Amino acid sequence: MLFILLFVTVLSAVTVVCGVNWTATPFVPPSYPLAVRTPYLSAWLPQGAGAALNSVWPSFWNGQPLGWTGLVNVDGEAYSFLGDPVVSGSTFTKATQKSAKFTSTQSTFVLDAGPVTLTVNFLSPVEPTNLLHQSIPFSYLAVSAVSTDGARHTVAIYNDITAEWVAGDTSLVANWTTTTGSVYTHQVQLANQTLFGEFSGQGQTQYGSVYFSSINANALTYQTGQDTVVRAQFIKNATLANTEDTNFRAVNNDWPTFAFAHTITVGATVSTPVKFTIGQVRDPAIEYILAGNVHQKRSSYWWSTYTTVAALISDFINAYPTALATANAFDAKVQKDATSKVSTAYAEITALAVRQAFGATELTISKASDGTWNKSDIMMFMKEISSDGNINTVDVIYPAWPIFMYTNPTLGKYLLNGLLAYQATGQYPNQWAVHDLGAEYPAAIGHNLGNDEKMPIEECGNMLIMSLDYLQRTKDTSLVSRYSALLDQWATYLIGNTLYPEDQLATTDFSGSLPNQTNLAVKGIIGIKAMSEIWATLGNTDKSASYASTASSYMTSWQQAGISSDGTHLLLEYHNQTYDVLSYNLAADKLLGTGIVPASVTALQSTYYANNFDLYGFPIDSRSPFTSAQWSLWTATTTSTAVRDTFISKLHNWLTSGSTSTPFGDRFLDDTGVSSANKARPVVGGVFILLVV
Ligand SMILES: *[C@@H]1O[C@H](CO)[C@@H](O)[C@H](O)[C@H]1NC(C)=O
Ligand SMILES: *[C@@H]1O[C@H](CO)[C@@H](O)[C@H](O)[C@H]1NC(C)=O
Ligand SMILES: *[C@@H]1O[C@H](CO)[C@@H](O)[C@H](O)[C@H]1NC(C)=O
Ligand SMILES: *[C@@H]1O[C@H](CO)[C@@H](O)[C@H](O)[C@H]1NC(C)=O
Ligand SMILES: *[C@@H]1O[C@H](CO)[C@@H](O)[C@H](O)[C@H]1NC(C)=O
Ligand SMILES: *[C@@H]1O[C@H](CO)[C@@H](O)[C@H](O)[C@H]1NC(C)=O
Ligand SMILES: *[C@@H]1O[C@H](CO)[C@@H](O)[C@H](O)[C@H]1NC(C)=O
Repeated sequence: MLFILLFVTVLSAVTVVCGVNWTATPFVPPSYPLAVRTPYLSAWLPQGAGAALNSVWPSFWNGQPLGWTGLVNVDGEAYSFLGDPVVSGSTFTKATQKSAKFTSTQSTFVLDAGPVTLTVNFLSPVEPTNLLHQSIPFSYLAVSAVSTDGARHTVAIYNDITAEWVAGDTSLVANWTTTTGSVYTHQVQLANQTLFGEFSGQGQTQYGSVYFSSINANALTYQTGQDTVVRAQFIKNATLANTEDTNFRAVNNDWPTFAFAHTITVGATVSTPVKFTIGQVRDPAIEYILAGNVHQKRSSYWWSTYTTVAALISDFINAYPTALATANAFDAKVQKDATSKVSTAYAEITALAVRQAFGATELTISKASDGTWNKSDIMMFMKEISSDGNINTVDVIYPAWPIFMYTNPTLGKYLLNGLLAYQATGQYPNQWAVHDLGAEYPAAIGHNLGNDEKMPIEECGNMLIMSLDYLQRTKDTSLVSRYSALLDQWATYLIGNTLYPEDQLATTDFSGSLPNQTNLAVKGIIGIKAMSEIWATLGNTDKSASYASTASSYMTSWQQAGISSDGTHLLLEYHNQTYDVLSYNLAADKLLGTGIVPASVTALQSTYYANNFDLYGFPIDSRSPFTSAQWSLWTATTTSTAVRDTFISKLHNWLTSGSTSTPFGDRFLDDTGVSSANKARPVVGGVFILLVV
């Protein structure tokens, strides 16, 4: 604990971590997003206590390295700025990192390379109201340079990727091609592809292609070949040989590498950036179950505008100035909203969550029988990531939900469409809501045997709460009216089961099942109340009144069973005085404005949290010191402002503690900071809850 206190010095907007020789704005995160747009385009720079852009390899969210090298040659002297290559027989030095900064959509590093300063900008666009742009599985890397000694310099900028980007198993054979024209593209893929396949335990896809591109300007040269050969060529000569290695081989066999180099002249004005793009395209992207167990092939939404990947890349790479302006405006809006509504520390947390949350999703569209795109059939899919590979897990969509409501509530419909349509086919045999649409992304092939992970109250409550929240925000009644029978079926299940829950799992499945969970029961009660409001909107006043009355009578019994005998706090389990609980489900009442949780309950919890915080938060329940990033902030909507701010500063302290190097973990020990295996999950989108209540 002492170590951590000494380790971190918080200044106003900038955190300097001792031992890191650059300015970190706003702080050194556990891992920087570099190219994070889909579950399969997910490149990060691991940090822990801090690592320069050119001192470690970028890695996939799950930790396996992704070869991505940046070199620069200034008047004949070579420097590295990205990745950690070893090129025997060649001499280069590491550029000196001066600063690192993240915003919602960008990670930007500034490094000195002799007499020039480089700015290296990684932009992963997040454009939630532009479905075309949001669905593009590509990211930008832009490098600009400026002279620092008043003189003009010849600066060659080099960037490469290795075939590690296409396989979680480096013993597999890759093949590749390079196309030239106004944009040059290296296309790389596995020679043996498995449609809808994924490398189990590693998370990379087994099909599709990676596209690495640059614009044909500034004396562009290219080369493919063994890593050390290609890099040595650039270090020696500052240009590439315009040659292709067509000896297709295993990813780890002389590491096939795909490179570009540009040459610019740099003076005292910052140069126009040299741009590279990287993307991972699979088509079809998603397999989805229709009525009669028919498996539909769904494509990324951008295919409804473009007929080739090359046309997409050309538009995408040339649109960098517009994409950057859009990103800057989005970043500023998140920053301003989060700061003005809550606090600076809160704004810093939200910025770190944005690319991670959207990067677990894909927007898709289907084709009608005549082969045209069906613009009324848009579905968004989400990978659970790291806890398992489930697709559209209801209790993962639910915690992540606030970021979608904040950025574009219509995305809520696209997230729920697939779940609702599947269950409306009648193929799912259980009376409660399904847990997910499939065990392994990207196969959303349902659970026709009903053997999905069983979380009946959890998922019924989540579906009803999200359906009403979507209705309230958009006034679009089409979703609840089309699926009213299904929603009512789930409300009926809750009426029969939520007051005294049987031995069930909740979203905290890592803790095992337990009967009579206080926090689970209240989600079900709020779910019943949500259905009452849905029926009110749909004009069924009888059902609305009946459900409202059931919910309020359950609320009375719930308090009697769920509040400790000394009246100070909610219990993990009814009547059992041994354990307390982080009652994050009370937040749904705030989210919906349903007002059925008495203020006396939230008031006593608020005081109880204030008196029982640990170093990094309040435990999910007192059986173990594990706490949760997103549930801490959901809970913070139900407390006093002072307690809310304590939840925020505890999470902020954990994120700045240097205790992990994985993408934003969401479950960690609130005393030591040690993280569970949860990482890179979309659930961190839940930190936006304070902007939507
Ligand atoms: C910071 O600089 C010091 C002195 O040059 C060096 O010993 C240390 O390793 C550097 N730390 C990092 C993280 O680069
Ligand atoms: C690479 O492998 C894919 C998948 O087997 C195949 O479709 C493609 O033709 C191959 N490309 C080259 C250049 O060999
Ligand atoms: C292709 O991959 C599949 C699935 O991983 C594997 O079963 C098959 O043996 C592979 N085929 C070849 C020719 O390597
Ligand atoms: C070295 O670079 C020059 C241009 O700077 C080029 O003309 C020459 O062909 C290059 N040599 C090799 C071996 O790539
Ligand atoms: C388009 O999709 C909607 C929603 O799934 C569906 O109801 C409709 O039948 C589809 N239209 C065609 C022409 O396939
Ligand atoms: C749940 O609590 C109720 C009321 O206290 C009790 O009657 C019931 O036995 C409990 N259920 C279980 C499974 O323990
Ligand atoms: C309280 O819960 C704990 C853990 O589930 C259990 O071991 C204990 O027996 C329970 N006590 C009572 C009085 O039910």
